[in-house]
Amino acid sequence: MNIQTLLNQRIQAAMVASGAADDAPALVRQSAKVQFGDYQANGIMGAAKKIGTNPREFAAKVLEQLDLSDIAEKVDIAGPGFINIFLKNEWLGAQLGEQRKSERLDVAVVADPQTVVVDYSAPNLAKEMHVGHLRSTVIGDAVVRTLEFLGHKVVRQNHVGDWGTQFGMLLAYMERLRAQNSKISMALSDLETFYRAAKTCFDDDEAFAARARELVVALQSGDEECLALWNEFIDISMAHCEETYKMLGVSLARQDVMPESAYNDDLENVINELQTQGLLQESDGAKCVFMEEFANKDGEITPIIVQKTGGGFLYATTDLAAVRYRQKVLNADRVLYFVDARQSLHFQQIFTLSRKAGFVEPTTSLEHMPFGTVMGSDGKPFKTRSGGVAKLSALLEEAQERAFQLVASKNPDMAEDEQRNVGRVVGIASVKYADLSKNRTSDYVFNWDNMLSFEGNTAPYLLYAYSRVASIVRRSEIDVSSINAPITIAAEQERALAVKLFQFEEAIQQVVSDGMPHFLCAYLYELSGVFMTFYEACPILAAESGLKESRLQLALNTASTLQLGLSLLGIETLERM
Ligand code: ARG
Repeated sequence: MNIQTLLNQRIQAAMVASGAADDAPALVRQSAKVQFGDYQANGIMGAAKKIGTNPREFAAKVLEQLDLSDIAEKVDIAGPGFINIFLKNEWLGAQLGEQRKSERLDVAVVADPQTVVVDYSAPNLAKEMHVGHLRSTVIGDAVVRTLEFLGHKVVRQNHVGDWGTQFGMLLAYMERLRAQNSKISMALSDLETFYRAAKTCFDDDEAFAARARELVVALQSGDEECLALWNEFIDISMAHCEETYKMLGVSLARQDVMPESAYNDDLENVINELQTQGLLQESDGAKCVFMEEFANKDGEITPIIVQKTGGGFLYATTDLAAVRYRQKVLNADRVLYFVDARQSLHFQQIFTLSRKAGFVEPTTSLEHMPFGTVMGSDGKPFKTRSGGVAKLSALLEEAQERAFQLVASKNPDMAEDEQRNVGRVVGIASVKYADLSKNRTSDYVFNWDNMLSFEGNTAPYLLYAYSRVASIVRRSEIDVSSINAPITIAAEQERALAVKLFQFEEAIQQVVSDGMPHFLCAYLYELSGVFMTFYEACPILAAESGLKESRLQLALNTASTLQLGLSLLGIETLERM
């Protein structure tokens, strides 16, 4: 049940019946202050202005047309023409009962499901995943889970980098190891070291560098031996990624991988199409597209280079092929790209060109969902203590270990197995949640103490809140599935909790419309706070029979909402911690 949508529909209908334009929005929002009710409609003033009437008089007319008697106990006009809505306690109680009965907490499935292609994670396979891949991976995954929950068809696309010039260098190094009879799989168990060793040879040894360049050409022209070597490398590197996904609890699988190399055979076609459409221009021997939209104030245009002198293709060429594929083969209605903000210009250019070239339908929405950088406490991009890039797998190991230490010190009596499991869940959740809870577009500072704190908007706080609610329910020793006493809302704190519980659906809408999971995080954090206030003011287990069952159901709905909300964020919950 989405109250906001319901009120929007009803109020808009009343506005139209009172003479407003058909598309005049009611602009229903949650009220910021209790004296303004639970919701307010802000659309009256704008609608009145359009038809040239006095807003307060118009508001009065709308109220005559508006019957909210089933859900609201009071509807007021305030200020210049705001409509304030005070929901009815009986209605809230009855709706909560519906919410309880439904596994999806009465959240509606969308009436018009879309096919949404989501491009996320996409590490470069030449190296191991590092902290820079965290954001795309966890934010993308939360949005994917929420889209699916709402009934959209999601196609995950892990656009991994497996095809650049670096691969020549890596293959040359594999060749060398093989000639020395060294075990390649051993060497590849640590990709960072392998990459560095290959890079040293490449930089210091001219013959090696020449061989590396030869191998790129051989690879790209389909040489079998080269491909076999390359496949071996990619397989191992992909397995490293999968281990990290597993540790992180990310829903990406092998079948979601659509690597850069998969578009190789289509790149020539992209160039030909651009050529036929007269969009290509030659510049210093390279094939480029110059678009007015990307001119600076002196009129100089930053072009997209699609083919280098000598014939090589680029990152942009592959992305153009990918747009076409996502439209023509995957039938996307929407394509979301969770990629670093530093690639914003690249995506604006790709999107603009794709439209000009007709690679996408005019109705298809292409959306870059940029994110900021993970920073260290020194205000620079996050590095390990020794100054290297932080490997994601090492970071996640450390998180689990730190959380384990924390849990062990808080619960010395817990069996070590359980301490380890709680440490695993809390550690991973902390890293993910610290990332998800920040506004996607800003940078944030990676700080162990903050993310592992039991206070504030953190994973430990929320997981603890969940386990506490779960334990209240357990201690009641009531078979909750058999409760059918009505939920009665009387105390102010019960009411605040009830209204908050309903706002879950509004919070998850924002995750899918804006690709911003931090709205859901903020909601879950507020919900926990409202629950704690309720719990202090309204005893549950000590309440008289009837009231006890009613309040227990409020606790149950809270637990289910926290659990479902966290699961949409890709975070596991614990019954005990
Ligand atoms: N592999 C790229 C990188 O590490 C990200 C790819 C993002 N997706 C895309 N379609 N370009 O920067």
